[in-house]
Amino acid sequence: MPAEAPPAEAAGADIAGGDVIDGKAFAEGLRARVGAAVPAFVAAAGRKPGLAVVLVGEDPASQVYVGSKRKATVAAGMESFEHRLPDATDSATLLALVEQLNRDETVDGILVQLPLPPQIDEKAVLAAIDPAKDVDGFHVVNAGKLAIGEPAMVPCTPLGCLMLLKDRLGSLSGLEAVVVGRSNIVGKPMAQLLLAENCTVTIAHSRTRDLPEVVRRADIVVAAVGRPEMIKGDWISPGAVVIDVGINRVPGDEGKTRLVGDVDFASARRRARAITPVPGGVGPMTIAVLLRNTLVAAHARAGLSPPAEL
Ligand code: GUN
Repeated sequence: MPAEAPPAEAAGADIAGGDVIDGKAFAEGLRARVGAAVPAFVAAAGRKPGLAVVLVGEDPASQVYVGSKRKATVAAGMESFEHRLPDATDSATLLALVEQLNRDETVDGILVQLPLPPQIDEKAVLAAIDPAKDVDGFHVVNAGKLAIGEPAMVPCTPLGCLMLLKDRLGSLSGLEAVVVGRSNIVGKPMAQLLLAENCTVTIAHSRTRDLPEVVRRADIVVAAVGRPEMIKGDWISPGAVVIDVGINRVPGDEGKTRLVGDVDFASARRRARAITPVPGGVGPMTIAVLLRNTLVAAHARAGLSPPAEL
């Protein structure tokens, strides 16, 4: 249990509350560290690290993500290979591309942007990616390695959350962590990472009985349910650290929309020791960790040790 009361309670005043965790700044720092480590890899391996990103269809949000990934990859001094396939692409065509990327020596990381169109067998596609190039960490081999504590490629968003938590708290050992959400992409790997840090971990979800009471136990709350502002301030134990993975678009003023997380930020901040905002919290970490995972995969494939600062 973190010992200090949050600043708002200590002051006893109606002020905003705990620290706002600047994920954007942390992500910029990580991207800079990755970029700084690339020249040594190029010198040792005789080539740049390479990331292949595959986008099927025209989903506008996915197009934005893929564009951001390409820019960040190039900015870090890495090679970006982008493959855009039509919406009507079938599983066999996508699987053939994945096989080609698996064989391509210049490709260290393969990311197939999700969601995929309904005619594509998503499980088969993720299973076809060479686990050594699986920078998303979605392959069952990597999920299994993470679960049994072997070195693995770890999904970007939960690894980014863990980095923010360790930066705030140092050792997480013995802390009560509640992860709200049980997806394969965030909730389950997040729980495994926290367990590996010696947290006492609860995974809560939509069927959890008395969710507010479960969340009240937590020194660390990771919210990844995809429901706008579901987690309320009075669920938060005073002094807890709150990591909000949610990105939800809700109606705002004057017919516009605004982004909110899974946590009711203003009320939760009053109780929290520290909390991530939306936007500007976890979001920017995902691409930064993707670059990190790509550079780590490149080192492993080249038989080199990855830089310790990553
Ligand atoms: N779609 C939304 N987030 C992600 C991600 O982290 N990886 C992939 N592959 N697709 C996504």
